[in-house]
Amino acid sequence: MNVAIIGTGYVGLTTGACLAFLGHKVSCVDADASKIAALSRGEVPFYEPHLETLLDDARRNLSFTTSYSEAIPEAQVIFIAVGTPTGNGGAPDLRYLQAAAHGVGEQLGPHLTVIVNKSTVPIGSGNWVESLVRETLQRNGSGDPKCFAVASNPEFLREGSAIHDTLYPDRVVVGADQPKTAEVLYTLYRPLLDQTFAAPTYLPRPDRVGAVPLISTDLASAELIKYAANAFLSLKISYINEIGQLAERVGADISQVARGIGLDARIGTRFLQAGVGWGGSCFGKDTAALIATAGEYKLQMPIVAAAREVNSRQRERVIEKLQTELKILKGRNIGILGLAFKPDTDDLREAPALEIAQKLKERGARVRAHDPVAMERFRRERPDLDVTLCVSAEDVARDADAVVLVTEWSQYRDLDWEALGASMRSPIVLDARYVLDRDRLARAGFRYLGLAG
Ligand code: UDX
Repeated sequence: MNVAIIGTGYVGLTTGACLAFLGHKVSCVDADASKIAALSRGEVPFYEPHLETLLDDARRNLSFTTSYSEAIPEAQVIFIAVGTPTGNGGAPDLRYLQAAAHGVGEQLGPHLTVIVNKSTVPIGSGNWVESLVRETLQRNGSGDPKCFAVASNPEFLREGSAIHDTLYPDRVVVGADQPKTAEVLYTLYRPLLDQTFAAPTYLPRPDRVGAVPLISTDLASAELIKYAANAFLSLKISYINEIGQLAERVGADISQVARGIGLDARIGTRFLQAGVGWGGSCFGKDTAALIATAGEYKLQMPIVAAAREVNSRQRERVIEKLQTELKILKGRNIGILGLAFKPDTDDLREAPALEIAQKLKERGARVRAHDPVAMERFRRERPDLDVTLCVSAEDVARDADAVVLVTEWSQYRDLDWEALGASMRSPIVLDARYVLDRDRLARAGFRYLGLAG
């Protein structure tokens, strides 16, 4: 099929690369000319494992442009994957979505076109996009308004494993108010739903993956599924962090508690990793949006609000722990391992490390940090944060009063912790993700701290 993707961020680019890999003709549109030029040269503007290789493999099916008039008229399916940053009062700012809908309306071809909301958009956005496109068509006096329909097809991809999650999803959700609209998307996704495509050698199909369940719903249900999923995952993490606080008081081990409850199939072991809490572009934004939407209907969401509160408390606990240990933070050298909001990405949005660095600076500490891939982005995006970037974890530890492991990059587990400890002013490590071997660190003379238990 002919596909257009508007927006070349994580979601748009991953979706475009995967659909092109499945054999569709994909045109990616972005207003940012330098980004389009870089993509045309085969450069990916952010770090995402396997994306560059997949784009290269699918190159003959892909094109990049800044112009709607090149991509839209031919397209049978148009994915809108533009940014929806948090606006005033927690509700998403929809100006890019609005611009995309107008741009599509200007250029729509004569055949049936399905416009798909792929970005996480507030409930009711499907109908809104439809009315914006219709308005544009009417204003221009061109095109047949019956020739398009809007669908919602939320993504559930995690940064760092975006390609894997897109090619081997747990489910595909399609929301549409007319069966014909949904059918177009079934056709598009058929190879993925049946898992009939030849898997890339670098991302083999996991054994457990059979046919992928398709959830076919109305527009509003699909839109709510996305928010409800992200809010649930957020509160699962906040729940284990809340239990972690009690675990610490009663002398329990939170990792064992998480395993002990997670093996109950009704609960599940995933997203029960205690630590400094969630960050990234989705959980904070989507929980705020859910609360804002509920507010429009005079509803409160106390459970979701509590998850947010517990999450922000986890950041504060890092500072409290360090203060309890060191007594005075002013003038101390604190090392931070990991800047990205999680491993395998260079994304810094709502990254706990940034908030922790900020709080430490406010208390007069000197902060040195390292990250395997996110330092360049940090330099570009956060020059305001006075943090010294170091070439290695060893460099971070040298003369430090304490080191905080904030992002659990695998290489940090395998460091020569014995040598690191010897080079520190005081060998204190705060393992804010529970990934280090506490006994080994104790043997190496470290004072090991966790955030709980
Ligand atoms: C998330 C959702 O998982 C994805 O389905 C959605 O479409 C976009 O948002 P992402 O933000 O890329 O994906 O990362 P994810 O792996 O979900 O992690 C989010 C945050 O939660 C990270 O900061 C991570 O460190 C934290 N986390 C995750 C925990 O603290 N504990 C866990 O057990 C799992």
